[in-house]
Amino acid sequence: MKQLFIFDMDGVLTETSEQHYLAWKETALKIGIEINRELNEKLKGISRMASLSTILEHGNKLNAYSEQEKESLATKKNRLYQEMITHFTKDNLFEGVEELFIKIKSKGAKIAIGSASKNAPMLIQNMGIEKYIDYVVDPDEVKNGKPAPDIFLKASEVLGVKVDDCVGIEDAEAGIEAIKAAGMLAVGIGKRDILSGADILLNHVKEMIDMID
Ligand code: BG6
Ligand code: MG
Repeated sequence: MKQLFIFDMDGVLTETSEQHYLAWKETALKIGIEINRELNEKLKGISRMASLSTILEHGNKLNAYSEQEKESLATKKNRLYQEMITHFTKDNLFEGVEELFIKIKSKGAKIAIGSASKNAPMLIQNMGIEKYIDYVVDPDEVKNGKPAPDIFLKASEVLGVKVDDCVGIEDAEAGIEAIKAAGMLAVGIGKRDILSGADILLNHVKEMIDMID
């Protein structure tokens, strides 16, 4: 059995992908850019500023704003997003997550969170899952975001688990790419057309419970 389970947060443990999307949609509309769910797939897993660049490029406005203006747009998006997740509780955790965490820990394996989001610690606290988590990767502490492997490698280094003994769990194309680049087993949660690089594909994270013996 694998010794370290590195979970993405948004879209794997809780439904925050929708909130990220709605916050970006509103922010983008204010500068005359319309985004749809297809574009949103490209925003999943990538950092706040990388998401903004993708949106500006989509609207042919990549060079229309100064660094300061871009920071301010990203801050606006984050405020909208935080308003949407501030009332999150245990009830927002996807079905089966706590049972899965308890099973992993009962086998002596470790759990890390490998999210690109700077809001992940707040969600962990709001949803009351900190007691199961051995390490949360701080995206500010790694050089490259997903699809680079850094976030996943950081968790394996800090917890001292060889990459062969690690599994990454992701709902985003960039995330699956990052796990594979790290040399780990990749579990994709979602659709085959988006997550074609995953070693194992599931519809829902709760399906992992029966895979652990
Ligand atoms: C990822 C999300 O987990 O975190 C992305 O999938 C998001 O949509 C990224 O842009 C960064 O999140 P935050 O909370 O730091 O803006
Ligand atoms: Mg995700």
